[in-house]
Amino acid sequence: MKPFTLGILGAGQLGRMTAIAAAQLGIKSHIYAPDAAGSPAAEVAAFATTGAYDDKVALVKFAKSVDAVTSEFENVPASAMTLLSEHVPASPGAKALGVAQNRLSEKNLARELGISVPDFWAIHSDEALAAALDALQGKGVLKTTTMGYDGKGQMRVSTGDDAASIFAQMGSEELILEAFVPFAYEVSFLVGRTAGGQISHFPATQNHHENGILATSIAPADCPETVVEAGQKAAEDLASALELTGVMAMESFITKDGQLIFNEIAPRPHNSFHWTIEGCETSQFTQLARIMAGLPLGATEARGLWKMQNLLGQHMDEVPDHLHRSGRALHLYGKAEAKTDRKMGHVTWPIDG
Ligand SMILES: Nc1ncnc2c1ncn2[C@@H]1O[C@H](COP(=O)(O)OP(=O)(O)OP(=O)(O)O)[C@@H](O)[C@H]1O
Ligand SMILES: [Mg+2]
Repeated sequence: MKPFTLGILGAGQLGRMTAIAAAQLGIKSHIYAPDAAGSPAAEVAAFATTGAYDDKVALVKFAKSVDAVTSEFENVPASAMTLLSEHVPASPGAKALGVAQNRLSEKNLARELGISVPDFWAIHSDEALAAALDALQGKGVLKTTTMGYDGKGQMRVSTGDDAASIFAQMGSEELILEAFVPFAYEVSFLVGRTAGGQISHFPATQNHHENGILATSIAPADCPETVVEAGQKAAEDLASALELTGVMAMESFITKDGQLIFNEIAPRPHNSFHWTIEGCETSQFTQLARIMAGLPLGATEARGLWKMQNLLGQHMDEVPDHLHRSGRALHLYGKAEAKTDRKMGHVTWPIDG
């Protein structure tokens, strides 16, 4: 293998785990982020550049120092991705990034592809919100169309609520109102896609959120084969329509009668697939590194049944207990301060079928 350097935009835990997986394949990583210095990703990477996502000179210099580039989060400005892709193969690609940055665009695309989505309304004013709440006739979730994560920028609303005060509280004029889906459970899907369009599916994962933040995942998900097939097809169709290079997760709701309803996509490694590091023949991070380095896709069979638990700032006192139990794989991200709800690490373990 020729020496290969993978550029990674973003300095958090996803970049860190990508860099660790890449290193195992002999691939060096170069982190680029405004907060790269001393970051979770930079401390395990060969190179790091602290730079802004709109600093064209620094971005081009970075592009010239790497063989391919990937992004650990979807809120990189599209202009940065476009500029980088003029120099090196880039993941997830401009189209995937653009669509995934906006909840309206991703739901519109899903709907065009025949994937079920909750009823939704684009909201730009309190009048539009009042009309949509009226049309909703029930419960809904109001979200900012961009920049939301871990349940931030969301509010539970209902028909009859005061639209003007809710609109003012949201602090953004780019909103989406979604009908509340009375789901039985939540499942996420992950696909890998090469630049040439080769697809690899990972086993589906069942997710449990607390306060809008992923708390635990169990995989492979205990759901009907029809659900797995529908989810994998939807994820694959989305990845192809987005001309994705890399990995992409699709979050979905499953109703009592086994219908799959699209929630959102993330064109990058996803928290609900951290169990693949120990639990899958090829982890999501290794698959991404393989795709970017032009290596063959890895097999994605699960090695039994796995549980993943997130360790947020308020859970750090549980760490000693995890360390004392055999069979547990503890991952800490090297973040300095354990703030409430901040993702500090995760732990996985095999569970008996
Ligand atoms: N329309 C909906 N109906 C029912 N529950 C919902 C709906 N939208 C969001 N939720 C709940 O809130 C969680 C977080 O929502 P969403 O995925 O839109 O937010 P996010 O901020 O992007 O979260 P994350 O970063 O964890 O993916 C969902 O996983 C689900 O549990
Ligand atoms: Mg989500």
